[in-house]
Amino acid sequence: MKNEILFKCNYSNNDAKNELYSKIVEERNYIGYYNLPEQNIDEILEFADDFDDSIENIVVLGIGGSSLGAKAIYEFLRPVKSLKRKLYFFESTDPLNIASTLKELDINKSHFLIISKSGSTVETISIFKYIYAPNPDANSYTFITDRDSNLDKFAKSIGSKRLYLPSNVGGRFSVLSPVGLIPLALCGVDIKSLLSGAKDVSDSFFKKQDIYEPIMNKAHYYAKHSRCYIINCTFAYTETLKYFSEWYVQLWGESLGKKQKNAVCNTGLTPIGLIGPKDQHSFLQLIMEGKTDKTVTFIKVANFEHELYIPPITLKHLESLDILNNVPFHKLINMQSDSVLEALKDTEDIPLDEIIIDRVDENSIGSLIYYYELLTSLVGQLLGVNTYDQPGVEAGKIILKDKLTKV
Ligand code: PA5
Repeated sequence: MKNEILFKCNYSNNDAKNELYSKIVEERNYIGYYNLPEQNIDEILEFADDFDDSIENIVVLGIGGSSLGAKAIYEFLRPVKSLKRKLYFFESTDPLNIASTLKELDINKSHFLIISKSGSTVETISIFKYIYAPNPDANSYTFITDRDSNLDKFAKSIGSKRLYLPSNVGGRFSVLSPVGLIPLALCGVDIKSLLSGAKDVSDSFFKKQDIYEPIMNKAHYYAKHSRCYIINCTFAYTETLKYFSEWYVQLWGESLGKKQKNAVCNTGLTPIGLIGPKDQHSFLQLIMEGKTDKTVTFIKVANFEHELYIPPITLKHLESLDILNNVPFHKLINMQSDSVLEALKDTEDIPLDEIIIDRVDENSIGSLIYYYELLTSLVGQLLGVNTYDQPGVEAGKIILKDKLTKV
């Protein structure tokens, strides 16, 4: 994975840069996600190897950090890998969604993963109740939660399999823990390669190699200009990263949008996940000529490993588009990305950078995920927020509980 920064953002103050690096090294001692690329995954691999062959569907019941990461990786790999099992998600209390997803499933060929760090999330537990009531076979369920959570205690009481995520790994940073690795391994995703991609970025950063300068400079710029460049767009030129965008939006938004004690106003950077070329016909106009409050990160796949050529035919009245003849689609999509990038560069006031991932595989998505987690931590440090909590979502939960008590 490469990251090229195309705007002037050099961290001129070396002491400040070293201080930020030291803070991240320090955080690594107590924030668990940093070390997930090096975790022991024997138990996960064994669990996946011994899994019942008659099971065709793995069904995740989880929300936010407990589902978005696995979904992003699964949907990224799905077009290129023939996976062993299908992965389904119940993430919403929308009755139409619950009913239609259930309709697609043969319950006898499905295994349910109930994933919740806290073990008490309304969405997850309500959907679990709905599925469990008519299907109370404990062997149909595996629970992934914090050790000793109420969900853990419940799972123990019915004799279901339980797996744990490290207590110091937060929800939205948990995709490389059992939260993401179990569903993915059961579907046949190469989780070793996923972690090795993440480790490449981790090593590169902590050994101050290739990724160090661009990510430090970018974080510095984002934080320093957080009051004028308030929106950070990713513009990924591949449909495979559609759900990665959702994961990014949660990671960035929930980590950096925080109340600032004693400050004039709160802080936060707004994430937008765009997909090219589709969003060229939509959001691009706003970037190009709207308020200059957005940074844009182009994400490109270097090698699609898929040769699909546009046939050299001439269409009456459309002769001017013969320039498309014989052009392979993988070239076309990357040329589209380059062209938009060049056009934006000409405006001179939109901070741009480009991330190039090698191919659509486990290693690349592992790298991209870790890169964004690290960038979030760096910007969080610089903004002076607690990147890992989310007190702002509690108020609504309390009101809901109150309403439910009165029902
Ligand atoms: O990042 C977070 O901590 C949250 O978004 C959680 O992932 C989300 O609220 C789901 O929580 P839980 O895994 O406890 O069910």
